[in-house]
Amino acid sequence: MADSLSNSSEDRSSARPARVGIVSVSDRAYRGIYEDRGGPAVRAYLDDVLSTPWEAVARVIPDEVDLVRRTLVELADEAGCCLVITTGGTGPAPRDVTPEATVAVLDKELPGFGEAMRAVSRPHVPTAVLSRQTAGVRGSTLIVNLPGSPKAVRECLDAVFAAVPDCVDLIGGPYLETDPTRVAAYRPH
Ligand code: MTE
Repeated sequence: MADSLSNSSEDRSSARPARVGIVSVSDRAYRGIYEDRGGPAVRAYLDDVLSTPWEAVARVIPDEVDLVRRTLVELADEAGCCLVITTGGTGPAPRDVTPEATVAVLDKELPGFGEAMRAVSRPHVPTAVLSRQTAGVRGSTLIVNLPGSPKAVRECLDAVFAAVPDCVDLIGGPYLETDPTRVAAYRPH
């Protein structure tokens, strides 16, 4: 029987493209008041950095805690995404609920992601401290929150992406490879 934690080279060569959920959480983008820019920024980043074949499962949803929760569960448990990246809804405004929706569906929170992203962002914008962005694991899926601005997407992913492939290995996901000239994946395990 296949070992669900296996990621041997044989498994890798026969594997389908790694699936990544990209969830834009924004009332205004959902209503078409403005164009979603966070989701496309995540997609462009992953196109740039991932050398493993991958496919996006993209959603644009309003800032509704139940809907954010259900979307994360669907992408993790049904769509089989090894990584789900949310963008938007991490701030202090009443409608910002992405982090609490995320924490509600996690098996394990990984607070180091949020800490690292805020630390890197602080020299760029004093308001970086307003983001409650976090990350964690649900089953074999790593979920990471990012702020909504495209600039924040790049800055935050640059701060943590070197650790993403090892995390995905550890939770039984596919073997993700990166372009080392962009981000060198660090795999101590
Ligand atoms: N982090 C980076 N790197 N760059 C940014 O422009 N914007 C900040 C913060 N983190 C920002 C950032 C601001 S202004 C806010 S309000 C919070 O993220 C939350 O943003 P969100 O509500 O779009 O998630």
